[in-house]
Amino acid sequence: MRQPAPNPDHTRMSPNESRNQTLAARDLRHLWHPCTQMHDHAGAVPLLPIVRGEGPWLVDADGRRYLDGISSWWTNLFGHANPRIGAALKEQLDTLEHVIFAGFTHEPAIELAERLAAITPAGLERVFLADNGSAAIEVALKMSFHYWLNQGRGQKTRFIALSGSYHGETLGALSVSDVALYRKTYAPLLLTPILAPSPDAYDAEAGESAEAYAARRLGDLRALLERHAHETCAVIVEPLVQCAGGMRMYHPSYLSGLRALCDEFGVHFIADEIAVGFGRTGTLFACEQAGVSPDFMCLSKGLTGGFLPLSAVLTTEPVYEAFYAEYNAGKAFLHSHSYTGNPLACRAALATLDIFRDEPVLERNRVLAAHLARRLAPLREHAHVADVRQTGMIAAVELVRDKATRAPYPPEERRGLRVYLHGLEHGALLRPLGNVVYFMPPYVVSTDELDHLVDVAIAGIERAIAQP
Ligand SMILES: Cc1ncc(COP(=O)(O)O)c(C=O)c1O
Repeated sequence: MRQPAPNPDHTRMSPNESRNQTLAARDLRHLWHPCTQMHDHAGAVPLLPIVRGEGPWLVDADGRRYLDGISSWWTNLFGHANPRIGAALKEQLDTLEHVIFAGFTHEPAIELAERLAAITPAGLERVFLADNGSAAIEVALKMSFHYWLNQGRGQKTRFIALSGSYHGETLGALSVSDVALYRKTYAPLLLTPILAPSPDAYDAEAGESAEAYAARRLGDLRALLERHAHETCAVIVEPLVQCAGGMRMYHPSYLSGLRALCDEFGVHFIADEIAVGFGRTGTLFACEQAGVSPDFMCLSKGLTGGFLPLSAVLTTEPVYEAFYAEYNAGKAFLHSHSYTGNPLACRAALATLDIFRDEPVLERNRVLAAHLARRLAPLREHAHVADVRQTGMIAAVELVRDKATRAPYPPEERRGLRVYLHGLEHGALLRPLGNVVYFMPPYVVSTDELDHLVDVAIAGIERAIAQP
């Protein structure tokens, strides 16, 4: 029989136990964390209770501070506890916390849709809201399939995704993802996508430019479309940076080529800007760098400045019209989450867009990105660094066992974890993806704070590679 959970017994905790330790022990009694082998927390990996955020800093229960070098899973744009977003939320809290979004609406959602339609690439006029990134991907996949079905093209049931891509971890989103760590175990449950080789410039031949490599990979995509367009709903990509796949970056020409191929072969183009949207790549949206408008654009993460879960799928008028019919035609799009269009989340998003409107965010980011680039450049010569790459406010350093062959460190050595632990000891939240140490800080970071992040990362890298 299941034993009742004992209450945490503070009297049994040693008087020397810190507040961090007390909270971590209580957490570990009941909570189960994402992306975590919980056994790690029984050993060398601390579980850190955070009590406060201040700009790019996180403060733990013992008062130690950590510079959030990864924007808390790429969500935070303008700092933790940002007062402007906080004030908007407080006002909304006293007005309307939530209302069913079927048959009812509210001004924060209306204004958000108007403003998203205005700032995203041309043609994206229709906005469907959901409450996290993976849900947005589910919506885009279902909507694309359903569009073709409503057009009498029900044989289109498949999706083309790029190798190394990541679109989330619900079953549909995971189906179009290709990061083995997340996918392998659940593969028997998933749809089978058609994988197109990624234009990831890391895989270019020696002397081959990123643009030439992207062109070569467009050739592969064309060949796949020639064979599969009749059964394909859409091609889904992370524009410019494949983030969870290791911050792999590619040339914008791939996106313009992709747009042309999708038009030629009659398949949709889904741009997953969940991680790269809202200024991360240097432009407000990554697609802008290729001058393209996708058929669907998925947004989340930075959409609320990192305050609340919210996502949006933007699509075109023709897609919307394919669903618009008299009720008994049975063409309506069916996808509903209880918290769709949550007014608090919409208000946080509006306050975030206000900051973009009122402050020279992208200009400021250019200065920060250039500083980061300068600081990371010397790492190119490092004996265990195969690549230093950057797109706007995303920079990554790829560690390898052997620079000449680019042979990676075996994953079981967990070199990245060593960098992570070093970071925590030295006041920085760096959370490498395998052997890729990356930087994706909130936009309110200063150049001195970037120096701190880079200094800690470099020392962490030295420590990670020094041990066998
Ligand atoms: C490109 C991309 N798509 C989708 C997702 C899934 O978003 P969520 O974690 O909110 O489900 C992520 C999350 O990291 C992502 O990076």
